[in-house]
Amino acid sequence: MNTLMRLSPQLHHWRTYCIKQCAAAGTEAAARGKPNYEEFIGSRHQQAQRSIVVQVSSEKSYNELYNYCSRFGRIVTVQHYSVQHEDELHYMLLEYASAGEASAAISSSAYNAELSGSGVPVRSPFLWFRAPTGGAGRRGQAKLAANQKTLALHTVNGTRSLSHEALKELLRGAAGIDQQLNLLYEQTRLNELGVRMRFIAALQVEQAISGMFPDALAQPFGSSVNGFGKMGCDLDLILRFDGKTPGTDQDSQREASRLIYHTKENLSNGRSQTQRQMECIGDMLHLFLPGVCHVRRILQARVPIIKYHHEHLDLEIDLSMSNLTGFFMSELLYMFGEMDPRVRPLTFCVRRWAQSCGLTNPSPGRWITNFSLTCLVMFFLQQMRQPILPSIGAMVKAANTADIRVTEDGINCTFARDMERVGFQSRNTSSLSELLLQFFEFYSQFDFHNRAISLNEGRALAKPDHSAMYIVNPLEQLLNVSKNVSLEECERLRIEVRNAAWMLESEVENATLSESERREQSWGLLNLFKHPEKSVIRPNMFFKPRMVEVSDLFDKSQTLAPTPPPVNYKNPT
Ligand code: CTP
Ligand code: MG
Repeated sequence: MNTLMRLSPQLHHWRTYCIKQCAAAGTEAAARGKPNYEEFIGSRHQQAQRSIVVQVSSEKSYNELYNYCSRFGRIVTVQHYSVQHEDELHYMLLEYASAGEASAAISSSAYNAELSGSGVPVRSPFLWFRAPTGGAGRRGQAKLAANQKTLALHTVNGTRSLSHEALKELLRGAAGIDQQLNLLYEQTRLNELGVRMRFIAALQVEQAISGMFPDALAQPFGSSVNGFGKMGCDLDLILRFDGKTPGTDQDSQREASRLIYHTKENLSNGRSQTQRQMECIGDMLHLFLPGVCHVRRILQARVPIIKYHHEHLDLEIDLSMSNLTGFFMSELLYMFGEMDPRVRPLTFCVRRWAQSCGLTNPSPGRWITNFSLTCLVMFFLQQMRQPILPSIGAMVKAANTADIRVTEDGINCTFARDMERVGFQSRNTSSLSELLLQFFEFYSQFDFHNRAISLNEGRALAKPDHSAMYIVNPLEQLLNVSKNVSLEECERLRIEVRNAAWMLESEVENATLSESERREQSWGLLNLFKHPEKSVIRPNMFFKPRMVEVSDLFDKSQTLAPTPPPVNYKNPT
């Protein structure tokens, strides 16, 4: 029996998917102008293979580094960023024209016990550029002067995000709320360098274990790749030992081979086996991989994860090995974001608003998560009289055999990947600010007590249990995405959306402010993001005009959920 035939049909789909992804990436995307998710992921993975990250003494090292590294191949991009430790540490991300050239630069690197302390010599794309020695140094300097023109390739501090004050200033100077919404999105979303850095972090893990697991694949998912991530967002990573089977000649020879690898039998059930493997991978990352620190194992969660910090990338990473639906969910969100240019700016604003009034919190708990909030926005856009997004059900209906994806544990993640086949065209012409107000109005009146939100149907359903908030998980429909949300937090959300609707409605009056008045005072989104001392229900246009405090809504004997600590979004955790 050949290797592929021994695999379950589900695993076969996964492999087929990866083959397609690796093979098709890049070229097709360029031809059509807009890459689909698989092409986007595939081309970023290949880009990471062409890249190295070099620590330098400052951004002024650019010319010297460029000259030195050019000996291994043609450098096509150089991006600088810095990371604040005790001192400011500087790095350059270099992209070569081919993976072979990047590999040559890595292979040429030396180990130096003095520089790396007692570190174990490990091959990785993270390197250090040491000062030149003696005559070689002087010759290098002379050559350098002749190469000043190369600076055109260079970006300085590509991960520096706009300060809160600078963003406020920018929003104040906008022409209207619609422009504020677009500016907020453009200025706070994860940038090009941020995406590259996340794919290099993934590649480092993949390459580190490739000796024993040549088919391993580490795939970023979540907000790093679905288009809803902001600067500094965490990286969600899924590691598969059997993810990669490049569709090469060598691979078809392998399929036909009569020689089959002996493998270890699984000694325990799937979940405890995964937990043991994750423990082992966690130790390996912790002990050997440069940059990896603060490794924590969270193995009892529904989806066990290893959390760690990457100090060369200033990045928090959540690594899982059994969450393929999360990966396909990211594809759905990516597609929703691509379908209409209003989807992402609207979601960014809702996420920022929720953060500013303490509805979301970086630590897990009984509050709503960014993912659940994103689902609320998607649902709102589906259920409108003139919908902006199709239901997932419509996407499933339009799927063909090339769209079949079934995870290893049998979860069907099949939906049409080609939007033309779905045939959905929105006739909704509302502006972003109108949609934002409608979003707050919609959830002010939503019956969270009796209704569940279904993105599959694009309409509310009867709630199947007593959870305070029920959002049907689109790919695992027996699960509730917002199961963690407590009754108090759900009430707080209702209060905050009513306040926001009231606030935004009154902002219409500010539309008449002169330009100089706008520059001098807070208006539009800036008022929405103000952090009130205490939530109160404002008199508004939908409900009895009465001022109510949050505590009036609860039995006095019940204690309110503590307000999550304020979030410092300049330094996201
Ligand atoms: N996910 C899911 N079901 C859940 C939670 C998460 O399918 N109940 C998937 C989603 O694809 C989500 C991804 O896992 O995008 C990562 O989850 P999380 O990190 O919580 O959300 P992000 O979308 O990455 O948002 P954030 O920027 O807050 O990390
Ligand atoms: Mg995330």
